[in-house]
Amino acid sequence: MLFIGSDHGGYKLKEEICNYLDEKKIKYNDLGTYSEESCDYPDIAKKVCEDVVKNNGQGILVCGTGIGMSMSANKYKGIKAALCWNEFTAEMSRKHNNANVLCLGGRVLEKEMALKIVEIFLNTGFEAGRHERRIAKVMEIENC
Ligand code: RB5
Repeated sequence: MLFIGSDHGGYKLKEEICNYLDEKKIKYNDLGTYSEESCDYPDIAKKVCEDVVKNNGQGILVCGTGIGMSMSANKYKGIKAALCWNEFTAEMSRKHNNANVLCLGGRVLEKEMALKIVEIFLNTGFEAGRHERRIAKVMEIENC
């Protein structure tokens, strides 16, 4: 299950991503925001991350830079959020980091690049192997 959300700074890009997902017939739940009216990104991150954890799903979070969303998302137990800005970071976020939430900057990325990142994120698997041990150590930090 795929959950998507943005604040006002990421709203336009979120809409483009939703259009892309519709075109590709990929199902998702849009948890807001639903206009360019100012709102607080941690509120949206909370909604998306709670549903990602509950459903063992994936999430996409968009704010102006992607930074506030990634900071917020990574506070949640079970969330591995990756701020990606090109094809390579998108690929590595899945292959090496097993990220379950993709964060994007709506004021940073061109639409075409953002959609490529989304496509790679959704279609790339975790390589496991040596990365499994490292990710287990990352998740251990949640207990500190
Ligand atoms: C909102 O103006 C902006 O601060 C937010 O979208 C995001 O970029 C924060 O990291």
